[in-house]
Amino acid sequence: MAQEHRGHHGPHDQGHHHGHDHAPHGPREDHGGQHGHDGADVDWAVLAPLLESQAELFAPLYEGAMAWLARGTAGEPGLIVDAGSGPGVVSAQFARAFPAARVVAVDGSEPLLERARARAGRLGHADRFATLAGDLPQALARLEYPADLIWAGNSLHHLGDQRAALAAFAEHLAPGGTLALLEGGLPARYLPRDFGIGRPGLQARLDAIEADRFSRMRAELPGSVRESEDWAALMKAAGLEPAGTRSFLLDLPAPLSAEARAYVVATLDRLRAGLGDGLDAEDRAALDRLLDPEDEASVHRRPDVFVLKAHTVHTAVRPS
Ligand SMILES: C[S@@+](CC[C@H](N)C(=O)[O-])C[C@H]1O[C@@H](n2cnc3c(N)ncnc32)[C@H](O)[C@@H]1O
Repeated sequence: MAQEHRGHHGPHDQGHHHGHDHAPHGPREDHGGQHGHDGADVDWAVLAPLLESQAELFAPLYEGAMAWLARGTAGEPGLIVDAGSGPGVVSAQFARAFPAARVVAVDGSEPLLERARARAGRLGHADRFATLAGDLPQALARLEYPADLIWAGNSLHHLGDQRAALAAFAEHLAPGGTLALLEGGLPARYLPRDFGIGRPGLQARLDAIEADRFSRMRAELPGSVRESEDWAALMKAAGLEPAGTRSFLLDLPAPLSAEARAYVVATLDRLRAGLGDGLDAEDRAALDRLLDPEDEASVHRRPDVFVLKAHTVHTAVRPS
């Protein structure tokens, strides 16, 4: 049965960290416990605008996922923990979708959590929203109450030992509580297979490079353990009962809104910056044209840009 955690429950730092000393953050700075430890040297705080615009654009997808979770959870969740919340766009959406719940956003990056608190304040959820800064999964030990719902959206794969992390997540669930992992799905598509420049199929080749980069990122994480990504089996091994898997689609056909187009530009731009020499000269030239704002054929201007993406959510329940 869901517990009532409203009002007085939450972690010790309750999201009132406004006096926190926020030095400008350069690459590899330690953000409240999370180190620049992913293979791609990601500074999560620098990524804040992209993480925010992405999660905002994906709001309809998360809405679908939350409606599905609401149907699958027994009773109203009292405490929802967003593990690896980043800037808290999805945490805020949880607060809206579950108006009786208290939401705690947990992340290694304090600057991102600061943005999460600011958002909760702007949206009027501050009274039932708190943050907890620290490394996952250990930071969960600072929760005062077990969670009725733990959401880990694209965060578990940033932890070296995913099996151990899942066991810790399971430990911090109330009996009957649900763990929901957003992992996998399908790579995004923004352009037709043949968009008239270079060799058709550029995005499929970018996906292949991205898949290798992802593997390297995982291999370089501290305590990295390779796991077969059977999330249901891994949650079962953590003592949970797998409850369902469902994929949710973001389908924004052309013509795109200005926000969606800006998101595509930012995503391809970031991809290009991290590609190294993975692409051949023809593909690189095509990508350069796509990102040149002066070029009529670029994603800044062309009419046929779209966003099509699937995210998969896997749930499991802690036996009562
Ligand atoms: C890809 S982002 C996802 C953010 C958010 N869940 C979303 O879907 O918009 C991954 C997040 O995990 C956090 N993270 C990565 N490794 C972590 C760790 N070891 N401990 C705590 N947080 C971590 C990062 O700071 C980042 O905010």
